[in-house]
Amino acid sequence: MAEIKKTLTQAIAERRATPSFDGTPIPLDDLKQILDAGLHAPSGYNMQPWRFIVVQSTEQKKKLRAASYNQAKVEEASAMIVACGDADGWRKDLDLMIQLGREGGMPESYASQARTSVSNFLSGFSREQMHGWLNKHVMIALTSMMLMAEVMGYDTAPMEGFEQDKVHEVLRLPMSYCVVALLGIGHLKGPDKYYGGRFDMAHTVFGEEFGKPLK
Ligand SMILES: Cc1cc2nc3c(=O)[nH]c(=O)nc-3n(C[C@H](O)[C@H](O)[C@H](O)COP(=O)(O)O)c2cc1C
Repeated sequence: MAEIKKTLTQAIAERRATPSFDGTPIPLDDLKQILDAGLHAPSGYNMQPWRFIVVQSTEQKKKLRAASYNQAKVEEASAMIVACGDADGWRKDLDLMIQLGREGGMPESYASQARTSVSNFLSGFSREQMHGWLNKHVMIALTSMMLMAEVMGYDTAPMEGFEQDKVHEVLRLPMSYCVVALLGIGHLKGPDKYYGGRFDMAHTVFGEEFGKPLK
């Protein structure tokens, strides 16, 4: 386990979308600890439809940069995590999810109906609905990775500036995958980004119903 450099409160307050990285490599154990944090995220029916491609080689980072509107930090980051959702993942993983659940104490009554209820829920999704479902799961896992990296003392950069088709080609992704976001991890080079501020809580949070202040 890597040393924890910041509390979660500090990491949340101090995190910035890193503008530039120094490129020093990340030890594999640290990378695995960061990835593992994401894999512990919750998901609907525990179906874990996320998939991650970790890009560290100079050659692949260069290609990924070209697929990401030439953003320099894609090439500078020690590791780029390409976060994807697999639209067909649930079909392949349903038995495994139930088996793991049983090992952990899933009630038999739940296990016996899970196969039908998960299939009924997900097989009726349109392409758009599936993309929405995948997006929320991939982002909750990626956010857990981002915050774990920050508490471990790394700097991070989430990115949506990429071209789906080009990333598919560079990473040789299966057709059922959609790329949701990229996360650069490494150490800041040069000055950090300014703090852009956040809307006041009264602007974005309501109590009991829309428009009412939280009391
Ligand atoms: C999903 C997502 C996609 C983003 N895409 C990019 C990107 O492609 N390039 C970039 O430089 N910053 C990107 N950002 C960073 C945002 O610009 C940044 O988070 C925002 O300006 C607030 O700054 P802060 O994170 O430093 O507080 C992205 C952030 C998120 C959450």
